[in-house]
Amino acid sequence: MRILDGSVRFEHVREAVAIGVARPRVSWVVEAGAQGWRQAGYEMEALDDAGAVAWSTRTRRETSSGRVASDASVLVPWGGPPLGSRERLSVRVRVWGADGSESDWSAPAIVEAGLLEGDDWSGQFITPDWDEDIEVMQPSPLLRREFSVRTGAVRARLYASALGLYEAEINGARVGDHVLAPGWTSYDHRLRYQTFDVLAMLREGPNCIGAMLGEGWYRGRLGFPRAGGRNIYGDRMAWLAQLEIVYADGTTDVIATAADGRWRATRGPVVSSGIYEGEAYDARREIAGWSMAGFDDSGWSGVRIVERDMGTLVAPTGPPVRRQEELAPREIITSPSGKTIVDFGQNMTGRLRIRVQGPAGTTVTLRHAELLEDGELCTRTLRTAQATDMYTLLGDGVETWEPRFTFHGFRYAQVEGWPGELPADAIRAVACHSDMERTGWFECSDPMINRLHENSVWSMKSNFLDVPTDCPQRDERLGWTGDLTVFSPPACYLHDAAGFLESWLADVRADQTEDGVVPIVVPNLFTHVDAPAAGLFKGVAQAVWGDAGVVVPWVLYERYGDAGVLETQYDSMRRWVDCVERLAGPSRLWDQGFQLADWLDPSAPPDQPSRAMTDPHLVATAYFSRVAELLSRAAGVLGREDDRARYSALADEVRAAFRREYVTPNGRLASDSQTAYALALLFDLLEGGDQRRRAGRRLASLARFNGFKVGTGFVGTAIVLDALCAVGEVDAAFAMLTERGCPSWLYPVTMGATTIWERWDSQLPDGRVNPGEMTSFNHYALGAVADWLHRVVGGLAPLEPGYRRIAVRPRVGGGITSATARLRTPYGLASSSWRVEGGRMELEVVVPANASAVVVGPGGGEHEVGSGVWRYEFAV
Ligand code: BGC
Repeated sequence: MRILDGSVRFEHVREAVAIGVARPRVSWVVEAGAQGWRQAGYEMEALDDAGAVAWSTRTRRETSSGRVASDASVLVPWGGPPLGSRERLSVRVRVWGADGSESDWSAPAIVEAGLLEGDDWSGQFITPDWDEDIEVMQPSPLLRREFSVRTGAVRARLYASALGLYEAEINGARVGDHVLAPGWTSYDHRLRYQTFDVLAMLREGPNCIGAMLGEGWYRGRLGFPRAGGRNIYGDRMAWLAQLEIVYADGTTDVIATAADGRWRATRGPVVSSGIYEGEAYDARREIAGWSMAGFDDSGWSGVRIVERDMGTLVAPTGPPVRRQEELAPREIITSPSGKTIVDFGQNMTGRLRIRVQGPAGTTVTLRHAELLEDGELCTRTLRTAQATDMYTLLGDGVETWEPRFTFHGFRYAQVEGWPGELPADAIRAVACHSDMERTGWFECSDPMINRLHENSVWSMKSNFLDVPTDCPQRDERLGWTGDLTVFSPPACYLHDAAGFLESWLADVRADQTEDGVVPIVVPNLFTHVDAPAAGLFKGVAQAVWGDAGVVVPWVLYERYGDAGVLETQYDSMRRWVDCVERLAGPSRLWDQGFQLADWLDPSAPPDQPSRAMTDPHLVATAYFSRVAELLSRAAGVLGREDDRARYSALADEVRAAFRREYVTPNGRLASDSQTAYALALLFDLLEGGDQRRRAGRRLASLARFNGFKVGTGFVGTAIVLDALCAVGEVDAAFAMLTERGCPSWLYPVTMGATTIWERWDSQLPDGRVNPGEMTSFNHYALGAVADWLHRVVGGLAPLEPGYRRIAVRPRVGGGITSATARLRTPYGLASSSWRVEGGRMELEVVVPANASAVVVGPGGGEHEVGSGVWRYEFAV
């Protein structure tokens, strides 16, 4: 028995350099050979980092938790005294089993605190001191300063952030590999800084540090024309840097951005850049050696300060965006009109990297799109996003280029102006997203369902680019809250999204209005926009969308065992439920005002996505009961007994009101729709017994009458198959899952989809693109069915928070003869893998150490087991 190498972690960060909390919680994974292993105790020890360097205020201090009798191994409270800013410790853990076993010490894990206080910053945000036209895209400024390094540097950290985007350089080399840093947050309240270990980049003597800036989300165009614009958060790009060099003798030099005459600025080769527009780069404007010492910057301008509250700077809780994978062209096509179009075979988010040679001044233009229509690039669905990059050649040998300050959602790229023939090895698609660890997998015997699952994975990757967005391609790419309400469960299975979503929830708190409204988009850019329609979006309360403020923290608790997130979000959760309670009034029915509700159900006309067959207020009231219930459970977890009772009573009252208003005594619903029945059944809105049985039967017949086609929008899609299973209609659920006609989950797969579409029929059966102006091919919401695949087909569901207790109950149907669900839970790898042959099911279950499972065969019968590998045979 041992602690898995590399498994000792702090909070939800993968690289604990510059963590933002003084008492990071610690987790570890035990690997036990023995079956049924349970932890009985642990010891945590924190040592000052070896090397006897003197930056720590507590040299040579050793702290140990001593032996703690506890079975906790996930997010265990920090035993030692709080970390000070910049403090670096080496932590190791050992454990004891209930069976008397004892592990060795784990390998040491390093945790380093960032700059925890606003006062830790001596740097200021600097911007070039020229005036510019803020209404149009501007060239990217370069900023630079030289400094010298003395002998004996033992540690160097660059802390940096920007108003806009930045890429830093030291001595001619790029610092780090982050993409689009500092990312997008509710900038007024929270702006992330990054920390880089740059010791190896420094040399004794003269050095140079610099950065190139981009407009990004901060001041570039954001939002759609009716409700968007430029300069949303501010109108100057600016950089903040604080380079701290520590020497063996204990002294520290700080090189910080300031208007001290040492920092210089000029315009760089990025001529213009925008998230929606794309980037234009003129290699002839490159300035050789600009970030190297000895460069003559006498012709450059000075800088001035942009004031900013340094208390708003925060360390990241999740991973940065990085380049994740590279795709080679699958095919280079000549379109009917003679255009050169590259097909990468996969819809994705990222950008192109080109290698090109040609005469100086030649401009290569790259246009991106998700689809071809009549063999030509279909750009209508991008609306006002140009999604066009332009590279102008220096004309000096082979030139390699990839844009820096933009990203696109695309599968196809049209290449114009290429000098000569475009060779396939000259162009690559570089997929970018937040660098989350992949944690969950699913596979079954049906290749179509595997592709559907893969499409969900790709839509998650495409839309988890720093903020959970609706889509990556058109003039939107916003953190629409409702999309995440329904997709957060599979998201938390597929990737470790805990740190990513923790950051987003901090933005939810920041952007929640005084009266408790969780906005429909977070970060809420609309509060900054004066455009005509922005008012509609500013502070409007919407069920399902605003409910993300309660649902997402609950999902994080359920999937990662993080009760701390409930504590942190509790006030926000309660304020949202109180807000809905006020809006609903004494009737307990949320029956006033516009609701997005079961968005984009198949009956909604292309131009009226909210005109669903399910009464929007039925949906709103159902969700009201749900969030009141979840809040009451959260209060229970946190030991807030009064709130638990109060919100549990509220949930009961809402359920009773729902029944009075929308349910007949015999279990008919006022909206005779799949979504209405699914909500009523799964959110416990019916009386037990007959009413429930009849409602279940009605849902199954609706599915049957509909030829097992989907009849749900964003809301119902996430739950309809669970609802069918909950009333024993497993065959109907599988019939819906495996249906291929339009609308169904597999219809897009039959059309060659490689991501989840926004609409059931984003592409019509005749190959034409849906006429609706809002038509994306990369929206994760309808892919929420992946969670059902994991839990029901694969058979792996959380029974207790963090999968400490796992429910293993695979269901057979739809002609599927085998399936596997595999998940790195916080306790270690769990899996459920089954195969059916000749009326027998063979099931293999893997339960991680310090966890347990309840295994249920297709015919029922429970087996409670501890950790280990378990094999079963059942009759089916
Ligand atoms: C987005 C959706 C979003 C919806 C709500 C759309 O434009 O793409 O995913 O939730 O608006 O209004």
